[in-house]
Amino acid sequence: MPNKTTSSASLGEKVSPSSEFKKQATVKSMAEYKRLYAESVSDPEKFWNAQAKELLFWRKPWKQTLEWKEPQAKWFVGGKLNVCENCVDRHVGTPRENKAALIFEGEPGDQQTLTYKQLHVEVCKFANVLESRGIKKGDRIAIYMPMTCEAVVAMLASARIGAIHTVIFGGFSSESIKDRVNDCQAKLVVTADGGWRRGSVVDLKMHVNRAIQDCPTVETVVVVKRIGNTRVSMKTGRDYWYHTVMEGASHKHTAKAFDAETPLFILYTSGSTGKPKGVLHTSGGYLLGTTMTSKYVFDLKDSDTYWCTADIGWITGHSYVTYGILSNGATNLIYEGAPNYPDVNRFWDIVERHRVTIFYTAPTAIRAFMKWGDHHVKKHDLSSLRLLGSVGEPINPEAWKWYYKTIGGGRCPIVDTWWQTETGAIMITTLPGAAYSKPGSAGLPFFGVVPKVFNDAGEEVKKGESGKLVLTQPWPSMLRGLYGDRKRYKETYWSEYKGIYFCGDGCRQDKDGYFWIVGRIDDVLNVSGHRIGTAEVESALVSHGAVAESAVVGRPHELKGSAVVCFVTLKEGVEPTDELRRELREHVGEEIGAIAKPDEVRFAPALPKTRSGKIMRRLLKDIAAGREIAQDTTTLEDLNVVKALQKG
Ligand code: WT7
Repeated sequence: MPNKTTSSASLGEKVSPSSEFKKQATVKSMAEYKRLYAESVSDPEKFWNAQAKELLFWRKPWKQTLEWKEPQAKWFVGGKLNVCENCVDRHVGTPRENKAALIFEGEPGDQQTLTYKQLHVEVCKFANVLESRGIKKGDRIAIYMPMTCEAVVAMLASARIGAIHTVIFGGFSSESIKDRVNDCQAKLVVTADGGWRRGSVVDLKMHVNRAIQDCPTVETVVVVKRIGNTRVSMKTGRDYWYHTVMEGASHKHTAKAFDAETPLFILYTSGSTGKPKGVLHTSGGYLLGTTMTSKYVFDLKDSDTYWCTADIGWITGHSYVTYGILSNGATNLIYEGAPNYPDVNRFWDIVERHRVTIFYTAPTAIRAFMKWGDHHVKKHDLSSLRLLGSVGEPINPEAWKWYYKTIGGGRCPIVDTWWQTETGAIMITTLPGAAYSKPGSAGLPFFGVVPKVFNDAGEEVKKGESGKLVLTQPWPSMLRGLYGDRKRYKETYWSEYKGIYFCGDGCRQDKDGYFWIVGRIDDVLNVSGHRIGTAEVESALVSHGAVAESAVVGRPHELKGSAVVCFVTLKEGVEPTDELRRELREHVGEEIGAIAKPDEVRFAPALPKTRSGKIMRRLLKDIAAGREIAQDTTTLEDLNVVKALQKG
């Protein structure tokens, strides 16, 4: 809820970590943070050079730390490593080898633990399976899976052989799978016979079957038997059961060394125009950024049991379920299902049973738990927790305080982490043993990150004034481009201000240097911490036969942050009925996925446009929120349109 985070009432408040926490923390004081930060920005190459040597295992040293030809960065040029080896192999043969790497809990309650040694075996086997299906360095594979160990194994095996994975969130529709698979021309898809969500089966294989009818590049589909779905249809010569191919695979696999700039994955994310864009991340810099932030921001220790509730279908699941966490050799809990299945106790029950120490989730979940009531939480022993994290959208101070008191027992620091799919790793936060938090503010820049708040003219605004958040220095885990679209990469991130990365967020920095993110200022909605492009929903709507034109805007929503509101004009002769409203909601669900389903569809005789034909979105936002119209309507083509919209 962007508006609330900036309320002046919350500004003065500071919450400091306890002295016990500070004593054991990786960075123990503000002075230490400031010293390290100053080092990281005064000579970034020296700093990153030292960090890369300390935190990662390299097969071949690099010749040059950074080659920056704006907007194209190459980090650790000439260096070679294997990302999977860093996340798995390097812990085998050490005292960590028999500790749990992954603790899986399925929604029905089934459990599986893989130690680092066992994870190594699984990953080697699956790397052999991929190679036996003809997957080589640079080939793309799509992963459309429930949150299971096999999903993580598939990502790591892909990295191990130098292939490029694209994970598609299990809630996306066949249309979305098709678009992504075709955009990156994937040769192989890893999926499952289903997954559990709120007690029902999500039929992943059926969605894949539908999608790849129109995906000529897909040669192989590997299907994990997750639920024992007897209705699964397998195509001979294309589809293989995971357990069958794994049975015959060798557990020996030699990991090759790859160039630091070898592409690691493509992750599709919504923008303000057109189809989702394929954000491309590479190996060395991405792994360094995620490893280092995991270590410092989550204060990871060997004794921790870490749980991030994000799905691997999002960047949080890439950076802070798979790569950054395993690279540190931590114990990583993954949970397949919904937070309220079989009831609203589930998360706290998991924390209690597994003695989770670090818990990372999104404000939308926190607000839901607040609403469900404290008495559910109070039934559980949450004393194992020592650190809490938040990600995905600004956390409103009310939710922050509830999280702090009710979940953290007033004992656990909260790290509010601002970052993006594009940044790869956390950019702004408060290091938990070093800095105090201000509820609602993400905090201070991480090492090597130089954020500034600009006005439209590209000048830094004064402290306390709002503007656009930019990052002025390249950083190792930054995206390297949009897959197959150099022009869009430049236009989207580097054209607002020449040579400077613009992230799409509005922001304000206070007198203490703390950053307060206001939320997206482009046509991207943040719905439950996920990005939804209004343009995508609009194009889904107009692909329905009844719709002539549509405009989609966000409206503040108590739980989701933003609700999706659609203004729709219908084709000649089509009746605006409730039935059609429902049908359009379902249609958007099928075109994109359930997360994009409109909260409200409003039929309108016409959309408000300027004389030059631009839809007046700000005006629609005011109407959707039931606010007074702030915008000057003198450029409006037809004033009657507004009256009709307010009524309808
Ligand atoms: C957008 C990025 C980063 C992983 C999850 C979302 C918003 C994210 C915060 C935060 C305020 C936040 C921004 C950003 N956002 N974290 N802690 N405080 N806003 O990744 O889908 O790439 O979305 O999420 O608007 O630009 P994403």
